[in-house]
Amino acid sequence: MNTGDAMDAVGLTNVRKVYGKRDNEVVALDGVTTQFRRGTFTAIMGPSGSGKSTLMQCAAGLDQPTSGSVLLEGHEISELDETELTKLRRDRIGFVFQSFNLLPVLTVRQNVTLPLRLAGRPPSRSRVSTVLDQVGLAQRSNHRPSELSGGQQQRVAIARALISEPAVLFADEPTGALDTRTAQDILSLLRHSAQTAHQTIVMVTHDPVAASYADRVLFLADGRLAGALHAPTAESVAERMTHLGAFADDRALPLPRLEKTRGGQHR
Ligand SMILES: Nc1ncnc2c1ncn2[C@@H]1O[C@H](COP(=O)(O)OP(=O)(O)O)[C@@H](O)[C@H]1O
Ligand SMILES: [Mg+2]
Repeated sequence: MNTGDAMDAVGLTNVRKVYGKRDNEVVALDGVTTQFRRGTFTAIMGPSGSGKSTLMQCAAGLDQPTSGSVLLEGHEISELDETELTKLRRDRIGFVFQSFNLLPVLTVRQNVTLPLRLAGRPPSRSRVSTVLDQVGLAQRSNHRPSELSGGQQQRVAIARALISEPAVLFADEPTGALDTRTAQDILSLLRHSAQTAHQTIVMVTHDPVAASYADRVLFLADGRLAGALHAPTAESVAERMTHLGAFADDRALPLPRLEKTRGGQHR
């Protein structure tokens, strides 16, 4: 069995994902090959519809590629049965969904602890407090999602993914609903998790400033890799985006908030 490079938390080889059949076929990923090294923080950028969420879901073992290989924590995901895959995801992987996926009837604390309680490993009260504190929700632990702002709900989703200290954390636009200041706190937390806890972080973002917290940016266009930047700055990311023509038409793209950073400030 191909176990890949032990330094890689995730390795994708020629991953294709096709949705639909015949006349309705959509090629969401069209032959993506890349690795995510342990303890690194990668940002994934690309226009709407370029395959970012599909890439994350395939890399996290939430979805199977149509063809190609995904090696996740040393396991070829197509060779695992559903029980093994569930266990791998539960024990090693965290995922922050673009749509938060919170349960409305549960409080913040209950939402955050649910995955570990279902796994029969309820977290200690102090662990829960630490994580809620890290995302700035210590005062909101007994609220329900409907009583929270979008940004607060997003932070609950982040806390839920962080609480198990996953080896690999996937986050799909985790700062999209946050104000600038809160986004900076969360991004610093993710960066710190990679540097000190050697967690592997993979984050989708539209924001060059958010991307500048990562060690590397991968650009996607039409389901293919369209370039990479190492040690990105907000300026270098914004510059690359203007050269990848498709971004220019993406109306969802916020203007880069360049006044907030100087090159390399987060490093
Ligand atoms: N479940 C699905 N069924 C059919 N098409 C899908 C599905 N999910 C995504 N797609 C299509 O695949 C392409 C990539 O989608 P996605 O990965 O969500 O892109 P992004 O996250 O970059 O916006 C888009 O054309 C999208 O419409
Ligand atoms: Mg998406």
